Amino acid sequence: MIKNNFFKTTKNMVETKRYFGKTINHKILDELGFFILTKGFSSKSIQKYHDKFLKSLENKKLSKTKKHPVEVKIEGIRFFEKIYKDHQLKNIVKGFYKGQVGSDFFRIVKKDNKNSSAVFCHQDTGYQFGSYDRYSLFICLTDNNNLNGGMIVYPLTHKFGYLGDAGEISKNITKKYFKICPDLKVGDVLIMHSALWHESNKNILKSNRIYFEIHIQDINDINTKYNIIGKRKKIFKLPFDKKNIFSNSRVTRIIKLKKRVINLEKKLENLYKNYSSLINC
Ligand SMILES: [Fe+2]
Repeated sequence: MIKNNFFKTTKNMVETKRYFGKTINHKILDELGFFILTKGFSSKSIQKYHDKFLKSLENKKLSKTKKHPVEVKIEGIRFFEKIYKDHQLKNIVKGFYKGQVGSDFFRIVKKDNKNSSAVFCHQDTGYQFGSYDRYSLFICLTDNNNLNGGMIVYPLTHKFGYLGDAGEISKNITKKYFKICPDLKVGDVLIMHSALWHESNKNILKSNRIYFEIHIQDINDINTKYNIIGKRKKIFKLPFDKKNIFSNSRVTRIIKLKKRVINLEKKLENLYKNYSSLINC
């Protein structure tokens, strides 16, 4: 929240690092918009996912999403999907949605010596589809901190709700707000409300910074793809592809505008070529 008007109890929660715990404190999670479960996964489990992921990158079975700064898609790979059956994950999510928990996606977010750039401040809600109260679990496959571009969060900002658009939140606003970059160890899980403002710095160390992200929601949300715990009551499923919802939207307009710019650039280039050949005659 605003630096000089940070609520007393919240300020105390942050200063005394009460957002770290061996079990999830849902009260603190609700208040701050994030919580860090220390050693949520055993080193043995983490090693398994870490090694498989790096091996798949090496064998070129996986690669970074082209237009995304940090994403590596791993959906469809059974090895990683097995995490939904993991008792450690079930144990972590049991306190959410009255024990009826599902997920709509999972992925890896990674920085390294090649892709080390910072990620601008944003909230995830504007990029998502479905209900509002959802969380990302960022499972640390490496030690993640400020030096290797670890996640930075702005406590309490989820309380502003959905901001009505997606994109970079202005630095003129974020500079007035309190932010922290928790020092996370392998196996720790950063639990973050999807509306919480967050960003990350450049990876100065250029060492691997890897999170296994699992997005959770009420199992009965329309777009639940994976059941974690509980039983889905509704059989009703999304009756259309979400990519086809809008015939006209900000995204479709941007795509059209980009195409127009490319065409205009080509025309200009041709005009310039013709003009140059006339001069050279
Ligand atoms: Fe994000």
